Amino acid sequence: MKLTATLLLASAGLVLATPAARAQHAALDARIAQLAAAEQAKVVAWRRDIHEHPELGNEETRTAQLIATQLKSLGLEVQTGVARTGVVGILRGGKPGRVVALRADMDGLPLTETTGLAFASTVKTTYLGQPVGVMHACGHDTHVAMLLGAAEVLSHVRKDLPGTVKFIFQPAEEGSLPGVVGGAKLMVQEGVLDKPKVDAIFGLHIWASAPVGQLWYRPRGEMASSDRFTVKVMGRGAHGAKPWGSIDPVVTAAEIITALQTIVSRQIDLTQDAAVVTVGTVQAGVRYNIIPPDATLSGTIRAFSPKTQEQIWAAIRRTADGIAAANGATAEVTIEPYVPLTFNDPALTARMLPTLQETAGPANVVEIKAVTGAEDFACYQEKVPGLFFFLGGMTPGTDPATVADHHTAGFKVDESAFPLGVKTLATLAVDYLMGK
Ligand code: NI
Repeated sequence: MKLTATLLLASAGLVLATPAARAQHAALDARIAQLAAAEQAKVVAWRRDIHEHPELGNEETRTAQLIATQLKSLGLEVQTGVARTGVVGILRGGKPGRVVALRADMDGLPLTETTGLAFASTVKTTYLGQPVGVMHACGHDTHVAMLLGAAEVLSHVRKDLPGTVKFIFQPAEEGSLPGVVGGAKLMVQEGVLDKPKVDAIFGLHIWASAPVGQLWYRPRGEMASSDRFTVKVMGRGAHGAKPWGSIDPVVTAAEIITALQTIVSRQIDLTQDAAVVTVGTVQAGVRYNIIPPDATLSGTIRAFSPKTQEQIWAAIRRTADGIAAANGATAEVTIEPYVPLTFNDPALTARMLPTLQETAGPANVVEIKAVTGAEDFACYQEKVPGLFFFLGGMTPGTDPATVADHHTAGFKVDESAFPLGVKTLATLAVDYLMGK
């Protein structure tokens, strides 16, 4: 009878832990916590080195070199040049089991650093033809350093691990140059989730306005999908003094801009999902008294479900076409999907929540509102269940309103955040593999 129950549970993917197995698991989690704390000096050193030498997306060659050297020194199988500059490390545990992936992003941003830190970046480059500084202004330097820390921690307990851990160091999270496929999307296309096939993936983002010690997460839609749209309105040019000779694309575009704002406010069920439609550019004409022949708008769409996303796409096309037609003009709508929805698998999130609560303490695990920013971790979550969460990086007691935000030249994080990040990444891998 007992044996039958065990078999049934095992076939359902559940592990019926004996007291001995539970004790072994608890001992391993305790060892991970100790090793993660001991890793701090190295994590800080890696972080400062990478911070001082930031590289833009798809150019992270020095960072990749540092990662590959460290992973090789731990005895991992290492692949380089994945999605151009990405690095993948594979740690095969001493026992058979599932495959879990942990991911960090590697790229910096075109910004000139003003933090005044001793290890601030002075790197300069050109971006889209303009001279710029380069800076780790989103904390991806800390992600790389913490994942290297987790890799070292897990390599110390390799013989006790039932399964395989894949460490994914991904380039170009912030996006590639226009028309270039990169980042998570290209890593997935190149098979990063295969050989061995990944069963689940975890990733974190340090957060400048969350206090050190806290973990923030949200089940299901956590960060929005992000699509770019353009509307080109084609009319007929004329002298500005004789508008009756024109089909005015400026007035038509203005009507379209206003009408686009009714998509979210009048057509989306806001009790289900938040959504955003923003027009960010308007281009038309060269002179005040010439009605131009065309006008172009571009903007961004944020949504928290594929259904809402599709509804908005259809509404933008319908609105632009209809208003253009009413004015005797035509509209050409282009929608470019950029990053899908960062969707935390509900079953995986529920299953791993106790791990977050154990590593940070239950009071420090906070369920947050949906974030309208986007994150290309979503590309992995389209293929395998994943959980993405935020790690507090703000010195406790600071007023979040005074914190320099991500993607600004003064962006800073508190390095005392790292041990919790290292511990949580490593413990998620262990707990997942041991069947929590
Ligand atoms: Ni980021």
